Amino acid sequence: MKLTSLVYLDAALLATAQRLAERFAVPCVDGTAVVGVKPKLFQRFVSNLNPDVEDAFVFVLGPDGLALHALGPEYGVSIRADFHGPSVTFRRKQGGGKGQMIAKAVGVRGGVYPRVLDATAGLGGDGFVLASLGCQVTLLERVAAVRALLEDGLAQARTHALAQDADLLQVLDRVSLIETDAAAYLRNLTEADRPDVVYLDPMFPVRTKSAMVKKEMRVFHSLVGQDADADDLLEAALRCARYRVVVKRPRIAPALAGATPNHMLEGKSNRYDLYTLEKLPNGLNA
Ligand SMILES: C[S@@+](CC[C@H](N)C(=O)[O-])C[C@H]1O[C@@H](n2cnc3c(N)ncnc32)[C@H](O)[C@@H]1O
Repeated sequence: MKLTSLVYLDAALLATAQRLAERFAVPCVDGTAVVGVKPKLFQRFVSNLNPDVEDAFVFVLGPDGLALHALGPEYGVSIRADFHGPSVTFRRKQGGGKGQMIAKAVGVRGGVYPRVLDATAGLGGDGFVLASLGCQVTLLERVAAVRALLEDGLAQARTHALAQDADLLQVLDRVSLIETDAAAYLRNLTEADRPDVVYLDPMFPVRTKSAMVKKEMRVFHSLVGQDADADDLLEAALRCARYRVVVKRPRIAPALAGATPNHMLEGKSNRYDLYTLEKLPNGLNA
């Protein structure tokens, strides 16, 4: 995957756009003239920016935040980190709370809110659910473009929360984000910073031709790659977590590093492998 340029859609965003473009060493392109045009025209505009690059992506920065647009065969697909849109908000408010499988996997229950290190944050969906449930969550992400989307999604959500959603603000206050490789981070962790739970959800190869695989998922995969080092991450996580390591896997996938978990929670398409180290004390971080 190659990030080829950053297009901004509002002159008021020029300074932010320039900062981001500099950070990614890509040209900063004025797209204000194509705001509101038909999708085909917009497609022609961005495709013409980099006609010869296969597998290209562009960042598009608009009033609603930062998105990554795929060019080429997946044109029209864009991904962003969303922490305040309608479906995320619905899940936060009506999503089943502590009854959700992810809550059980991590060990959230009455008065127990483990401190979670989400070592493979991606677009932050799982980490945000855990923060919504009451956990302090540190997100680690090593792919700079994904980290930029996360950072922007958190900032957009905070602006929205400050204006009209005090509950969301509390959730966001429980989330922090670090751009780093998790293996290196875990190696250098001090005793005081050891998390209660390390949560892992590394990439798993998708069947790219399958209609079942959502386009967004395919684009995310081509952006991020394979996470071929995920087995090593489990070992590092087991050394650092105080109470438990939770690994999210597709239901049919083998366990990470071939390590048999102590418990397994199975859903329709995913499962959680639990490696328990110590019992979570009652009242932990209550
Ligand atoms: C499948 S995605 C995680 C999805 C996430 N659970 C969510 O709900 O959005 C895996 C992510 O972990 C990141 N990742 C994998 N190994 C990592 C490592 N060693 N350090 C930091 N990030 C890593 C990848 O870059 C990718 O963005």
